[in-house]
Amino acid sequence: MTQLLNKVYGSLIGGEDVPAEKQIPVHNKFTGETIAHIGNASREDVEKAIENAYKTFKTISLSVHERYEILMRAAEIFKERKEELALTIVKESGKVLKEAKAEIDRGIQTFTASAEEAKQITGTGIPLGGQPGNDNKLSFTIRVPVGVIGAITPFNFPFNLTAHKIAPAIAAGNTVVLKPAELTPIIANKMAEILLEAGLPAGWLNVVNGLGNETGQYLLEDKRIAMYTFTGSPAVGRHIKSATGIRKVVLELGNNSPNIVHKDVADLDRAVELCVTRGYFNAGQACISVQRIYVHEDIQDEFLEKAIAVAKAMRVGNPELEDTDIGPMISEKEAIRAERWITEAVEQGATVAYGGKRSGAILEPTIITNARPEMKIVCEEVFAPVISIISYKNIDDAFEQANDSEYGLQAGLFTSNLGLAVRAAHTLEFGGVIINNVSTYRADVMPYGGIKNSGIGKEGPKYAIQEMTDERIVVIDM
Ligand code: SIN
Repeated sequence: MTQLLNKVYGSLIGGEDVPAEKQIPVHNKFTGETIAHIGNASREDVEKAIENAYKTFKTISLSVHERYEILMRAAEIFKERKEELALTIVKESGKVLKEAKAEIDRGIQTFTASAEEAKQITGTGIPLGGQPGNDNKLSFTIRVPVGVIGAITPFNFPFNLTAHKIAPAIAAGNTVVLKPAELTPIIANKMAEILLEAGLPAGWLNVVNGLGNETGQYLLEDKRIAMYTFTGSPAVGRHIKSATGIRKVVLELGNNSPNIVHKDVADLDRAVELCVTRGYFNAGQACISVQRIYVHEDIQDEFLEKAIAVAKAMRVGNPELEDTDIGPMISEKEAIRAERWITEAVEQGATVAYGGKRSGAILEPTIITNARPEMKIVCEEVFAPVISIISYKNIDDAFEQANDSEYGLQAGLFTSNLGLAVRAAHTLEFGGVIINNVSTYRADVMPYGGIKNSGIGKEGPKYAIQEMTDERIVVIDM
């Protein structure tokens, strides 16, 4: 890890490290020590990066099999350097080691699936002859890359969510300007270096480091960027959408994920284990973290007792240790915000059934009961290790409460009734409905994206490639 210490990442422009005038320290989120610096890219740096990506798009094309090989080679290097990359995530984000390793594995899958999808990009034949006046025409569509993609990535999965933007963009034949989260930029910069090592031509992927409201803002203003792909908060998502006019955007925003545990659940212990551990996954900082748990009143007491036992058994502390389950949140400020939401809920009548205390950036795994729909811990995205257990009498009421949200990313339901499962799939207003598992379930190949304030567009290599290509109609008049 010593190679991390004191390294300064400028911006990566045309394969060269371009230092910035202003530097921003990157901290170890558990110890607070400074582990690296990034430059705060200026408007000129951002323009240079875009110019490079634009020129590269116009002048260097890579065949499908070249894109495939570069992505596969990068995946190989990730495998070889897995331990070091995982430790980088732990240090800069506070994510616990076992989850960081799992994230590297997922990123490798995301690269591999993107490489494979590159080989499947195709249009369709269009039968025009059925309409009078269109005889003797051969028609089909082709899918063409959109051009330069601006990718803005979040702190919570700094490797895999960067992979979900970069790998499909390259697979589809686009060039990229990446702006990683300033709180967790090192792993994304390493990904870019590895892609160059894997044979990606300089200029295909440019990285501008810096603050969201400065460097990120400059990125939105340049019309040479054809499309933006962003994961982060709804407020920033809304800003990106309004700042980019009629250019394409894919936005992956928040959720306050509901999970329903019906009285006919086949294996209550498993449901409890999944709901609790996936509520605290990455210290609750995932858009699909279990947050609202609706439990049928017949099994509510048993569920709560078991949930407290699972929470108690989880080890909280140093994220670098192999057996730690929950580490610090991304910052003390965020932990204080979540603690304030808990206090406010208690003042409004909620009960802390377990946890609730904070030490620095570490918030204890917390279970709330007697929560009401208007409390922030229920109706907003808590993004912290806080779950609320709420009882219901009948399933339609549970569906209604689950849908009563400004968000719509993913929801979960535990039931052994197939008919109910199918009804839930039609009734729950979310981008994904997960039956007999939790909202947090995500396989990297599946379409992933929400409705309402959870965003627009889909990720998952095959679906991201659809978003990152235009369908062009070709008509040949014979
Ligand atoms: C997210 O927070 O949206 C990503 C969750 C995941 O990929 O597991």
